[in-house]
Amino acid sequence: MQLPFTGPWLLAPMEGVTEPCFRELVLERNPAETLGGAFTEFVRVVSEALPDKTLRKQLGPQRFPQPVGLQLMGADLAALAETARRAEAVGAPLLDLNFGCPAKGALRGCSGSDLLRDPARLERTVRAVRDAVDATPVTAKIRAGYDHADDVEILARAVEAGGADLLTIHCRTRAEFYSEAAPWERIARAVQAVSIPVCGNGGVRTHADLQRMRDETGCRYVMVGQAALGDPWIFSGRSVTTADAAEFLLAYAELLAGRAGKRPARVTGRLKQLLGRWTAGGLVEGAERDGWLAERDPDRTLERLRVAMTA
Ligand SMILES: Cc1cc2nc3c(=O)[nH]c(=O)nc-3n(C[C@H](O)[C@H](O)[C@H](O)COP(=O)(O)O)c2cc1C
Repeated sequence: MQLPFTGPWLLAPMEGVTEPCFRELVLERNPAETLGGAFTEFVRVVSEALPDKTLRKQLGPQRFPQPVGLQLMGADLAALAETARRAEAVGAPLLDLNFGCPAKGALRGCSGSDLLRDPARLERTVRAVRDAVDATPVTAKIRAGYDHADDVEILARAVEAGGADLLTIHCRTRAEFYSEAAPWERIARAVQAVSIPVCGNGGVRTHADLQRMRDETGCRYVMVGQAALGDPWIFSGRSVTTADAAEFLLAYAELLAGRAGKRPARVTGRLKQLLGRWTAGGLVEGAERDGWLAERDPDRTLERLRVAMTA
């Protein structure tokens, strides 16, 4: 099935980050021919299909030229299939399945990365969702393995056999969590093992890394997670000013407080999540980072951003 991405680089699903407000700001700031798509945070499906309201909330109110894939995670195949049908009916342009989440909660429910230990179940899970929807592409995101990466090919083939239209592979195993090392050769092995398109993920730090990963692994798409928290312009490679960087964070704060109704402390919590990694526009440099993170008064953080925006 035709994939709806408008460009080769994709914003990764990130729980607690890629809700509609953050996603929209990133999608607005990167041309569609560079940032080709984004994903929701994972949405857990336990034993009952999720209501339309939950699915609409995850997809957000705005539409962009780029598709936003709705990511589902669950082990109950009937509930997953019914949720997929509902997601298609409410207009999700793409459905993604999460087989990488390392959290204990996911494992207790036997979903997320737990399925990396059971390729047959991995395949059945993809198949259940693939068969539930008609015209919506289905993609699956795995890690390179559970506690070793010997079976990358087996896992990649299970995803393909389940009928997925795209395999995304995060090159670290579950045991490696978010380690510094990101062995891209595992992505190259997955590319060799299947004939569906592959999206590589893991360890991209700069705009130049995007093309480098494609060249070194042969993957068609590249997904960026953590580096996009520090530089939301990483997809276009635009080098922004300090004012642009401060404007992004202020716009984010405004959306979180206004549309999402978050309290000031929650808003600054989210800002600090970005400030802790922020690299764009020279806004946060060297020892200044500690100062930004130590600030307890939400108003002072916002005031500091306003000053930076007009400086
Ligand atoms: C804060 C955070 C939340 C994440 N949440 C999800 C998620 O909801 N679904 C998912 O498939 N992966 C999730 N991930 C993993 C990322 O999508 C990505 O695979 C991982 O960060 C590796 O890419 P990177 O090295 O570019 O960060 C999350 C990662 C981070 C840092």
